[in-house]
Amino acid sequence: MKKLTPILVLFLAFTQLALSQTRAVKVLDTNWKFQKGDFEEAINVNFNDSKWESVTVPHDWAIYGPFDKNVDIQKVAIVQNGEKVATEKTGRTGALPHIGTAWYRNTFTLPAASKGKKIMLLFEGAMSEPQVYLNGKKVGEWAYGYSYFYFDVSQFVEAGANTLSVKLTNKEFASRWYPGAGLYRKVSVIIKNNQSIDQWGQFVTTPFISAAVAKVNIKTKASGENTRLVTTIFDAEGHQLNSEESTTPFGKEFDQNIKVENPKLWSPETPYLYKAVSQLYVGNELKDEISTRFGIREIKYEANKGFSLNGKITKFKGVCLHHDLGPLGAAVNKSALRRQMKILKDMGCNAIRSSHNMPSFEQLELADEMGFLFLAESFDEWAKPKVENGYHLFFEDYAEKDIVNLVQATRNHPSIVMWSAGNEVPDQWGEAGVKRAKWLQEIFHREDPTRPVTVGMDQVKATMESGFGALLDVPGLNYRVHLYEEAFSKFPQGFILGSETASTVSSRGIYKFPVVQEKMKQYPDFQSSSYDLEACSWSNVPDEDFVLQDDKPWVIGEFVWTGFDYLGEPTPYDESWPSRSSYFGINDLAGLPKDRYYLYRSRWNTDKPTLHILPHWNWEGLEGEVTPVFVYTSYNSAELFINGKSMGVQKKNKSTPQNRYRLMWMDVKYEPGTVKVVAFDDNGKAVAEEEVKTAGKPYQIVLDADRKTITANGEDISFVTVSVVDKNGIPCPTATNQLKFKVTGAGTYRAACNGDATSLEMFHKETMKLFSGKLVVLVKSTTAAGDVKLEVSGAGLKSGKLTLTATK
Ligand code: GAL
Repeated sequence: MKKLTPILVLFLAFTQLALSQTRAVKVLDTNWKFQKGDFEEAINVNFNDSKWESVTVPHDWAIYGPFDKNVDIQKVAIVQNGEKVATEKTGRTGALPHIGTAWYRNTFTLPAASKGKKIMLLFEGAMSEPQVYLNGKKVGEWAYGYSYFYFDVSQFVEAGANTLSVKLTNKEFASRWYPGAGLYRKVSVIIKNNQSIDQWGQFVTTPFISAAVAKVNIKTKASGENTRLVTTIFDAEGHQLNSEESTTPFGKEFDQNIKVENPKLWSPETPYLYKAVSQLYVGNELKDEISTRFGIREIKYEANKGFSLNGKITKFKGVCLHHDLGPLGAAVNKSALRRQMKILKDMGCNAIRSSHNMPSFEQLELADEMGFLFLAESFDEWAKPKVENGYHLFFEDYAEKDIVNLVQATRNHPSIVMWSAGNEVPDQWGEAGVKRAKWLQEIFHREDPTRPVTVGMDQVKATMESGFGALLDVPGLNYRVHLYEEAFSKFPQGFILGSETASTVSSRGIYKFPVVQEKMKQYPDFQSSSYDLEACSWSNVPDEDFVLQDDKPWVIGEFVWTGFDYLGEPTPYDESWPSRSSYFGINDLAGLPKDRYYLYRSRWNTDKPTLHILPHWNWEGLEGEVTPVFVYTSYNSAELFINGKSMGVQKKNKSTPQNRYRLMWMDVKYEPGTVKVVAFDDNGKAVAEEEVKTAGKPYQIVLDADRKTITANGEDISFVTVSVVDKNGIPCPTATNQLKFKVTGAGTYRAACNGDATSLEMFHKETMKLFSGKLVVLVKSTTAAGDVKLEVSGAGLKSGKLTLTATK
């Protein structure tokens, strides 16, 4: 076997390029200049941008606000929501100033050794309609803000300094949620030889798997004459396994089959990853080298059985996620994503749907590593509009290119187990839409024959009639629990996916009385009740989905709308200002769990028990009033005590969906003190207990960091939960104190968020009010190692102090 030369290549400084024969990838993260407005002259190399703002990329120009109800104010009837009359929607796209044109400029230096090489510019997302110029010349453009795309800029580059200018334009009425603005994902320059592996040119699949051996098929497209390809597989510990050398490309493609003995299978529980290193030679000269991470796993979708992973029937316990990261806006950040996914893991969630667009590479890398099944979506519109300036403007010209890039760039991620060609597209109506569905699905199949395609359908009746639903690999129903049976009998596939479910609304820590099920319920404070009984006219509470998931083997799982709150779409307060972010999240915009988190956890997390009481117990003035107590628990029965007095035993039962999944004491009368729940196992033995106590006055600020050690890379973030407790250390659940934040040492203050959908305080300012007694502060590393100190203070409160460590 040939000895591999070490991978010299990734993230080399450009000056080192001369030392490497192969490729260099340079992420353009620093040294950017940014200016909002129209500056066509900014394409010129000599343009003076010294007065422009210095920024780092990923960057979201709109997240710094201010919130303004007039930004992208949409006077529309939201047809999908059943509206017939146009009304003014204020916070629909987040009320953040993302509309308009802006420019980014970056001057980077290429070493002399790059002369005659192939130079590519890769954008992992640019919001939106990017126009890209290099050294005063236009090198290309794209349209969809969520797409990954690249240009071969070899003919435009110069040895030495190169000036990149990017123009971005966000139109109004182009989105149904906050899209973000700017170069919100990574930009990189790739320098490689002309004889090299094509961009996204490798496809690794595992077409045969047994306990003894797996066949790893590696198709690799490469350019250049007389090339040969050596591919070697490594296990997760870096041990070299098997290798194959091929001298014959068919067309441009090498086709290699390499065996892996005793393969370790990838799954959410055991996310084991292998690596294929491919080296392209001409003669004995190494011309290119790439490394692709992959997993060995088998997926199947079968009538009446559903989805199986490695031979085991697996239901999707999934959430939909929009791409924004709350206080960070759309600017991608790996530690923010990792935190979200840790929270989801603990909830027992095993799947993510990137609604309604392409996921970031970072999110997919984490899904591979942490173990999430991934439903990668593409579009919210096809040729028919939902919003005036939506994707329908680009559909004809770009749909195929966008899908090709999505699939080619991400198909080696074992986490991806399904593609989605669209969400609730109005093309569900009419013959043209059926043809479009087939066309798009076939593009996915052509690019990736190993995964099925779905579309999230809300017009279920129409798609039964037209054949639209029947032609999809996976029929996805958005909501409409009442149509599952009919869809199952009419559609031929033999299973149904809850591609979007629930859309229950709630505000963390806010409870409304009387406690009743409601649709589109509004309150004067623009909050929704956390008793988890409120939904939209088209949607439902979680328990109704659970019934279908548990009782119908042909329902293959669900993707709850949504895992986390997001900016924009403040239903049921679409017309109410100030309301600028969603209420749908299982977790709030700050990433703090709402009560609903524990409801899902009680059913989804089968490893660890759940026992959670709601509401809080600070109801001064409501003494003697009926204050129902709910318990979300994995145990089947429990007894409730108020100040030591039993309120009786409740047992889960099938009388209603709620009674099946929640324990509810509806007649409890409020008196201050202690609420205690004792849970029983199935033999009636008391096995766990939990308490909630009435808090006194706010006394002290308490800080709790998700990670105390962060990496000194200028990107890593520690998320510090800030709460206020009384003299006895009991959390004050209604505290709204205005707090101030100060970060010193080897870190910076980045943002704060309290999860209040009606707050107009800007995330990056060093002050914010608590919401329901809590908020989260984001402390970011610099590139220096050392201690990072956070101090949080508030009038009349003992300050909270915390020291983090930033390490190299
Ligand atoms: C769905 C839609 C989502 C979101 C959700 C709110 O119909 O696909 O994008 O709007 O409703 O309930």
